Amino acid sequence: MDARGPIIQVRNLSKYCQDGPILKDVSVNIEQGDLVSIIGPSGCGKSTFLRCLNGMESLDSGYIYIDGISLSKKPSVGFLRCDFQQKTHELRQHVGMVFQSFNLFPHKTLLHNVMLAPQIVQKKTLDEAEAIALKFLDKVGLRHFAHRYPFTLSGGQQQRGTIARALALSPKVMLYDEPTSSIDPARVDEVLEVMRDLDREGMTQMIVTHEMRFARDASDYIIYMEQGEFIEISDEDEIFISPKDERTRQFLKHFM
Ligand SMILES: Nc1ncnc2c1ncn2[C@@H]1O[C@H](COP(=O)(O)OP(=O)(O)O)[C@@H](O)[C@H]1O
Ligand SMILES: [Mg+2]
Repeated sequence: MDARGPIIQVRNLSKYCQDGPILKDVSVNIEQGDLVSIIGPSGCGKSTFLRCLNGMESLDSGYIYIDGISLSKKPSVGFLRCDFQQKTHELRQHVGMVFQSFNLFPHKTLLHNVMLAPQIVQKKTLDEAEAIALKFLDKVGLRHFAHRYPFTLSGGQQQRGTIARALALSPKVMLYDEPTSSIDPARVDEVLEVMRDLDREGMTQMIVTHEMRFARDASDYIIYMEQGEFIEISDEDEIFISPKDERTRQFLKHFM
């Protein structure tokens, strides 16, 4: 574990449930500023993998290392568990996560939704939190909508709002789990454009997506997953032109 090495390192990560393995010995290195797309059939473990990176799922073996924080299997000894919980809490501040459902608080304005985490987690004052929230709402093109309630916004706008909310904690890494799957097709691009923008600014991002054009155009590389395994990790569009594994070829056939 070298602090000057990749910003994300995953080594031999496995996770099981009573029905069998969900993640099988997966490893990957991700460099600062990379944009990585994760593709694969439903149920192959994509969401579980992202949740592990965010400390929302426990690991059964292996470890993850993100920006100086490493996590492995949750210890069974009491005082070590405290340390583990502290590290998980820290990790979540370094790693922003955006889900398919927008889950903004419906009774709060967009501005107040984005102000919450800086106030509660970082103990910012009201004025500081407002300045942070406006800065990130501006970044996602929603400054003029700051005083609107979520139900008055389109899906694309709400999702941009959740991205602003995640950015408000100044994460080093952003993870997105099918961020455009619940959005009207006409509004998908405005959300993808925010990720492209963040990529230009050097944010490290991992995206589970079925948007193959975006995966192909915007990613530095693509991970193809199947049945809990990383079948193929490929540079840019090589995976679309000449996939190395037959399973990848079979999956991508449906998108061609
Ligand atoms: N907490 C859990 N307990 C038991 N099984 C789970 C749990 N979370 C996910 N799974 C199972 O693990 C597999 C991978 O799920 P998931 O990560 O949601 O896949 P994907 O996001 O690729 O659709 C699925 O078979 C799912 O039913
Ligand atoms: Mg999923």
